[in-house]
Amino acid sequence: MDNRPIALFDSGVGGLTVARELVRFPCTLYFLYLADTGRLPYGTRPPAQVAAFTLQIIRFLEEKGAKMAVIACNTATAAGLEMARRSLTLPVLGVIDPGAAMAAQATRNGRIGISATPATVSSGAYERAIKRINPDLEVHGEPCPEFVYLVEGGVKDVELAKRTAQKCLSPLLEKGIDTLVLGCTHFPFLNEIIAGVVGETVRLIDPAVGTVSEIERILQEKDLVSESTVPQRTFFTSGDPAVFRQIGSLLFGHNIEKVEVVHWES
Ligand code: DGL
Repeated sequence: MDNRPIALFDSGVGGLTVARELVRFPCTLYFLYLADTGRLPYGTRPPAQVAAFTLQIIRFLEEKGAKMAVIACNTATAAGLEMARRSLTLPVLGVIDPGAAMAAQATRNGRIGISATPATVSSGAYERAIKRINPDLEVHGEPCPEFVYLVEGGVKDVELAKRTAQKCLSPLLEKGIDTLVLGCTHFPFLNEIIAGVVGETVRLIDPAVGTVSEIERILQEKDLVSESTVPQRTFFTSGDPAVFRQIGSLLFGHNIEKVEVVHWES
């Protein structure tokens, strides 16, 4: 038993797609969430810089008492997961392996699309993870950085979101994919719009679902399950706390009350 919180972070509100899955599970009711909105976007930054942010944030959250860290960001998982695991002693989990496993299991025709940030697509991390499971699967990636801004703004302009989805996803549809990984944690907030564009024959994969099962498994395995039944959530942002509270509450579907501001030393 361990009543300390688990820590999640993302460049912004995207990781709340993982948090909203997490709150359904009783043994992970207490979490810390950090939105590094002051440094968003991650998806167009050099991988070494995102890896350094990843390490800095997990250390910060560990000092706040976290027993486990979840990189609720595909870009930071691709850039920083291995380094974080090498440098830190607490368990660290990313979202790419769980997403890859879900996609490999879901596909019927063996053609999987990855919609993600430019950094995640060019890292090739999904392709490697999927081919480790089944080398015969075809993986096609396509960047869509515009989705990140649409979600950070609270998806107010639905028509613009639809046009963006058509532009970003048509190249993947042309490859004949039957499975599409929403390979940026912001994207599942556009699930309905994306589903409308890709049609019923393409299965959408939200890696948050597999990630949360993996969190549960690790907590059990390492005897880190909490016995507390009281939901407790602490939020941090390096951006504007009022904006995070408003957009975050809307997307998360639960009220975010208090947001602490983090100032990184440059
Ligand atoms: N939500 C992040 C991801 O999963 C990245 C968004 C950004 O570019 O900052 O990749």
